[in-house]
Amino acid sequence: MFEVLPKIPADPILGLSAAYKADPNPNKIDLGVGVYKDENGNTPILDSVIKAQSVLLESEISKTYITPQGVPGFITGMLTLLLGKESKALLSNRVAAVQSPGGCGALRILAELIKRCNSDTTVWVSDPTWANHIPLIGDAGLNIETYPYFDKSTASIKFDEMVDCLKQVKKGDVVLLHGCCHNPTGADLTNEQWDEVLRIAQQTGFIPFIDTAYQGFGDGLEEDAYGLRLMAENLPEVIIAASCSKNFGLYRERVGLAAMITSDAAMRDIVQSQIQSVARGIYSMPPSYGGALVDIILNNEALKAQWTNEVNEMRTRMQTLRQLLVDKLAENGASKDFSFVTQQKGMFSFLCISPEQVKKVRDEHSVYFVDSSRVNIAGISRGNVDALAKALVSVL
Ligand SMILES: Cc1ncc(COP(=O)(O)O)c(C=O)c1O
Repeated sequence: MFEVLPKIPADPILGLSAAYKADPNPNKIDLGVGVYKDENGNTPILDSVIKAQSVLLESEISKTYITPQGVPGFITGMLTLLLGKESKALLSNRVAAVQSPGGCGALRILAELIKRCNSDTTVWVSDPTWANHIPLIGDAGLNIETYPYFDKSTASIKFDEMVDCLKQVKKGDVVLLHGCCHNPTGADLTNEQWDEVLRIAQQTGFIPFIDTAYQGFGDGLEEDAYGLRLMAENLPEVIIAASCSKNFGLYRERVGLAAMITSDAAMRDIVQSQIQSVARGIYSMPPSYGGALVDIILNNEALKAQWTNEVNEMRTRMQTLRQLLVDKLAENGASKDFSFVTQQKGMFSFLCISPEQVKKVRDEHSVYFVDSSRVNIAGISRGNVDALAKALVSVL
């Protein structure tokens, strides 16, 4: 039966990792895969997570299935983190939610839920968007269209064009927005631009679908939730996919949240039953471990404070590295102004150089990042930033 299947080429980012591993150059630099790294290039387990693991080890007495919705304290903790303590939607019981296997799991089950509502729905994604949005949403059978977002020639958001496009979106269609730290560009909407997007959603009746995978990595845990909370407070329906991979460093535990703001509490119960039925049809029950750790952290004051500090440290480190890279590029006589890198947020930036320049810097200097020119800022360190800046300047 399998003869009909063609081989699918390896994901470019995985190919890049393999090429990096195989490169014997001791000074090679990896800015490819989207994983946070410390100054030594490691992705350590957060101290708050280590403590939560020992609490869990002491307290867990069974490995029977958890509930289909997930770990209860995880759901409430995450919804408060995302929507805020004062959220009207939460206080009026209008939020349905399930724990999901990572942010990807959330995106997929939400796409399946949208399809149950209307299989002709178009999901509008930014141009560019995170590459995995396309299979996660498209393989559920939904149409995908793009709205203009980032202009490489000016290294900024094409907000006017984005607005013109969103004004044409049909009522009931879905617009995917990155909650913060846009992947791949690092270019985020300002609060005023979020306000404008809300007004358009109110006028046209499109449903925002907010993907938030980097809360805390942009300006802060509260600040990064501005757009999401604005939509959740002012619209009857909002779709939310959240990931705990980056800000809790729980990548391999696969933990995320799929949440839906609904028009009223009765509708919430219907949507809750539907999303659980979608998940049941794909993987039946959520994994417990990662959700149990997040539950312990978010519901213990001391651990939450420690985790918040760790998120703040990761963010500050990345902000410092952005500035350092821009300074070193200027010091080395870069013919291009890279100051936009300090305005961008989170783990990624588009350097806005050509695929040929990306290839050259890889071939000649063992600096690895994807052809789009997206770099993982956390892959930069005080130890490699000089070499990186020199390598980049040499290909400009
Ligand atoms: C924009 C965006 N959404 C969602 C995710 C989901 O990540 P995960 O499934 O690892 O939680 C990622 C991870 O890179 C991402 O960049």
